[in-house]
Amino acid sequence: MSDAEHQQKAASSEVPHHVAIIMDGNGRWASARGMPRVEGHRRGVEAVRRTIRAAGEIGIKIITIFSFSAENWSRPASEVGELMGLLRRFIRNDLASLHESGVRVRIIGEREGLEPDIARLLTEAEELTRNNTNLTLVVAFNYGARQEIVRAAKRAAQLVAEGKIKPEDITPESFAGFLDAPDLPDPDLIIRTSGEQRLSNFLLWQSAYSELVFVPTYWPDFDRAALEAAIDSFRQRERRFGGLAARTAS
Ligand code: IPE
Ligand code: IPE
Ligand code: MG
Repeated sequence: MSDAEHQQKAASSEVPHHVAIIMDGNGRWASARGMPRVEGHRRGVEAVRRTIRAAGEIGIKIITIFSFSAENWSRPASEVGELMGLLRRFIRNDLASLHESGVRVRIIGEREGLEPDIARLLTEAEELTRNNTNLTLVVAFNYGARQEIVRAAKRAAQLVAEGKIKPEDITPESFAGFLDAPDLPDPDLIIRTSGEQRLSNFLLWQSAYSELVFVPTYWPDFDRAALEAAIDSFRQRERRFGGLAARTAS
C-alpha cells in the first residue's frame, strides 16, 4: 500500500461506524422566533433529511435518531398529535426515496399500543427496505432505554421459565441479544443538540462506551457542517474501553 493509500485508510477508519443523535431543541428554536412549537418540529424534519443524506455521504454506516420518547406522551395532546402526524408524513413522503438511496430502515421502541396505522407504516418501512445495505437508519420511536432493558429481561426470563436457557447463560453478551435491535453494534458517537447534557433515557445499555458530544445548536439548524464538527470532536477522543491508551500500553 502506498503512503497515500495508508493515509486514506487511516482517515476513513476515523469515521464513526454508528452515530446516534438525540434531536433536541425544536421547541426552543421555534419560541426564539415567536413561532408555535410545531413549526420547530416541522423544520426538524428538514434537518432529519439533511442529516441522513450527509451521514451517507460521510460514510457512516448506521445512524440512530431519537424521534419520540416513551416519556414524550406526557406533552399536551395537541403537540403529541402533531408529532404523530409528522412521522406519518415523513414515512409516506420519504420512504420511496430512502429506499432508492439504499437506506435500510429499522425501528426500536415499544410497538404495542401505537395507533394501528402508525404501526403499519413502521412495519412497511422495515419490510420494504430490509435488503438495503448503504446506510441503516434506526428510528427510536416510542422508545425508552429502561423500557427496552425491561423488555429484554422479560424475554430472557421467559426462556428461563420455559427451560430453554439457564440463568447462568445470561451474560452481558447474550443479554444484548434480547434488546430491540440485537444485531446492531453499539453507537461509537452519541450527539445531543440544544445544549442539554443528559441522555434522557436513550440507549442506556448501548452507550456504555460511546463518546458523547453535546452541541448548542438547536436541532432544526443541524446540518452537514454540524455533523462533521461533532465527528471532529469524536476524533480527538481517546477510546480506552477500560484498558490503557495505545501509546502507554507497552
Ligand atoms: C425535540 O425537540 C423533539 C422531541 C422531543 C420530540 P423538543 O420538542 O424537545 O424541543 P425543546 O427541547 O422543547 O426545545
Ligand atoms: C429527548 O428529548 C427525546 C427526543 C429527542 C425524542 P426531550 O426534550 O424529551 O428530553 P428532556 O425532557 O429535555 O430530558
Ligand atoms: Mg427537548
